[in-house]
Amino acid sequence: MLRELNLYPQWVLRNPSAPVVAAERAGQPETVNTGQIENREPEIVVMHEQPRAPSEEVQSAAGARRTVSLQWPELKKAVRDCTLCKLRAGCTQTVFGVGDEQADWLFVGEGPGADEDALGEPFVGQAGKLLDNMLAAIRLKRGNNVYIANIVKCRPPGNRAPEADEIASCLPYLRRQIELIRPKVIVALGKVASNALLGKDATLASLRGTTHRFQDTPLIVTYHPAYLLRSPSEKAKAWQDLCAAQKIMQEQHQTIVAG
Ligand code: URA
Repeated sequence: MLRELNLYPQWVLRNPSAPVVAAERAGQPETVNTGQIENREPEIVVMHEQPRAPSEEVQSAAGARRTVSLQWPELKKAVRDCTLCKLRAGCTQTVFGVGDEQADWLFVGEGPGADEDALGEPFVGQAGKLLDNMLAAIRLKRGNNVYIANIVKCRPPGNRAPEADEIASCLPYLRRQIELIRPKVIVALGKVASNALLGKDATLASLRGTTHRFQDTPLIVTYHPAYLLRSPSEKAKAWQDLCAAQKIMQEQHQTIVAG
């Protein structure tokens, strides 16, 4: 599994007991970590969700009203019946999300591809196989304390990135999923998912190495598995991000036990 991630021999964090959250500096510029994994702890800074553009705000407020009190069955039906944006007309089926509905871990991708569109489940193609290996690298398994979802529930044509209005229409569903799941850590896979969740327009490099927050939930940004398939040399950085997420999770468990 580590060989598949191009991470053999195994990387070990030098000081696993160091606190993950170094500082709470809401509103300050992000810290970019370009340090080498073997000689430096990632600098983790807590950032809060940025305000969104007014038009998205209006859409999001309307979306929040639509989804605010929905429980799982109604939310699934709302997604299944959704025609709010143009994506639904071009896809086979909606892809709601999969996994443990009380998971501590939430992984969020961009949107369904051809395989997901055909099967109705996120990350079931080649990128999904790599995601499963990434999960296994931190001893996680799809469906077992893990939930996997996408920013948009319908496949964008030709696998293009979802557009801003499509994201704005769909995001309330994911927001409600997050409210219902109440994960302890969110891992955003790739630039589109990260920017959509954080209300930003930033490079992935500038977002990595920081603990952001989606509402009150810590959020770690890492590479999309499809990108890692094209750029395998970046897998070591993804491993670094997963380790940071794992430390946050461990700290939360420690806090609960200590409290
Ligand atoms: N890429 C994504 O972002 N999501 C999927 O579900 C599959 C591929």
